[in-house]
Amino acid sequence: MTDAIQAPRPGPDDTNAPDEQKKVHRTETKTRTPVEAKREGPTLDVVKGDERVKVFIRSANQQTGAIGYTEHGERHANTSADGARFILKSLGHDARRCEIAAVAAYLHDMGNVVTREKHAQTGALLAKDILMDLGFPLEEVATMMGAVANHEEDEGGLPVSAVSAAVIIADKSDVHRSRVRNPKSTSFDIHDRVNYAVTASEIKVSRKEKLITLELAVDTEVSPIMEYFEIFLPRMMLSRRAAEFLHCNFALVINNTRLL
Ligand SMILES: [Fe+2]
Ligand SMILES: [Fe+2]
Repeated sequence: MTDAIQAPRPGPDDTNAPDEQKKVHRTETKTRTPVEAKREGPTLDVVKGDERVKVFIRSANQQTGAIGYTEHGERHANTSADGARFILKSLGHDARRCEIAAVAAYLHDMGNVVTREKHAQTGALLAKDILMDLGFPLEEVATMMGAVANHEEDEGGLPVSAVSAAVIIADKSDVHRSRVRNPKSTSFDIHDRVNYAVTASEIKVSRKEKLITLELAVDTEVSPIMEYFEIFLPRMMLSRRAAEFLHCNFALVINNTRLL
């Protein structure tokens, strides 16, 4: 890896906060007050309020549902945004970078409004115009475009910045039964089964140990652990690369057993 794509290192640890930070999905992590955020530039709340973002994400979710995918709507967008912000904040990155990571993560699957195939790249281009209209500085837009475009393992995505690495880990760790849309468990495919089997997912970050951990509780009566690996191994490998970009190791813990 060249110096040009090394992740920027966070600032010195100047807090007395406990080392290990835990993130349960679906609760929000605030990095600073709204007044502070406004001074620095547009925020995630501004992006969420944009009509194009609302309609495109809603339509993307309907369209992925029509072709049999799990939930890809506002719930997944919010969970990913929250996770990406949490990861960078826990590692000591500055508040503005945390905000940018949250915005990129919120928008990462919007390209599904065009097609599933290449949705990462189309999403980046869709995001560009919206983010520029909302007044984000060009450098931040560029960072977010790279993060959105590089989030998919099967579209050649790779971590290209700290923001991109955080988006990858947050996205890939959102596996949960609430994402399954197929109402009939008898016709579950492997993706439905694995997602349905996950009853809890949590990201943990230890800045001191330089370790990012994804902890899952899997109901093995619904899906054996092997099925999880069958479909999630490429995602976990990309998550590990993303963690390494952030100068961390990556661990996967399922039902209290470390598997990666
Ligand atoms: Fe995606
Ligand atoms: Fe996603």
